[in-house]
Amino acid sequence: MVTDHNRVDTRTRAARAADATAVRDIAVATGLFQPDELGDFDAMYAGYCDGSLTDHAWLVAQADGVGVIGAAYYAPEPFSDRVWNLYFLGVRPDHHGGGIGGVLVDTVEQALREAGAQVARVLIVETSSTEGFESTRGFYRKLGFDQEARIRQFYGPDDDKIVFWKSLVEPGVGGTV
Ligand SMILES: CC(C)(COP(=O)(O)OP(=O)(O)OC[C@H]1O[C@@H](n2cnc3c(N)ncnc32)[C@H](O)[C@@H]1OP(=O)(O)O)[C@@H](O)C(=O)NCCC(=O)NCCS
Repeated sequence: MVTDHNRVDTRTRAARAADATAVRDIAVATGLFQPDELGDFDAMYAGYCDGSLTDHAWLVAQADGVGVIGAAYYAPEPFSDRVWNLYFLGVRPDHHGGGIGGVLVDTVEQALREAGAQVARVLIVETSSTEGFESTRGFYRKLGFDQEARIRQFYGPDDDKIVFWKSLVEPGVGGTV
């Protein structure tokens, strides 16, 4: 998919091993991963690259002349019935508001819809309840996600987990949704 945002052509594609540093930089720059959590991040990315995390997918948004400016990571939710989790979504801060995050989410949804209801029925995404993530919560609402659940104090005493939910299939297809 090719789009035009902030006068740079941006293409979404499957991530490659060579994108690891750029994606890692986005994880840190967006504040989604602290430097001491990068071991977990690297393990997740390496598992995708070597194929050991089957069904796990990383996408990147690449802008001409700039490089990788956004990334998304999604995988099936264990112990669920065809629920997928968008575990990571980040856009380089100097490109926020340029439509890149929306395009990445659209690309994830499109891939899962194309896989069919026998594979994917629901997409969820988890974020924080803090004021710093108000804009992120607004972003998911704008993209048609329902605010589905809150797990109190999940990330800290004053930081709940908010779960957003979106159906990937028409009601009645692939079981009740
Ligand atoms: C959240 C994030 C991925 C959004 O990406 P982005 O490229 O800045 O967002 P987009 O420009 O694609 O916005 C998509 C749509 O959502 C809308 N939107 C964005 N923020 C919004 C808000 N706070 N309230 C309402 N709508 C909002 C945009 O207006 C746009 O709608 P449009 O297409 O009709 O213009 C990005 O800001 C980011 O990386 N934030 C920090 C990390 C983060 O919070 N990641 C998510 C972790 S769960």
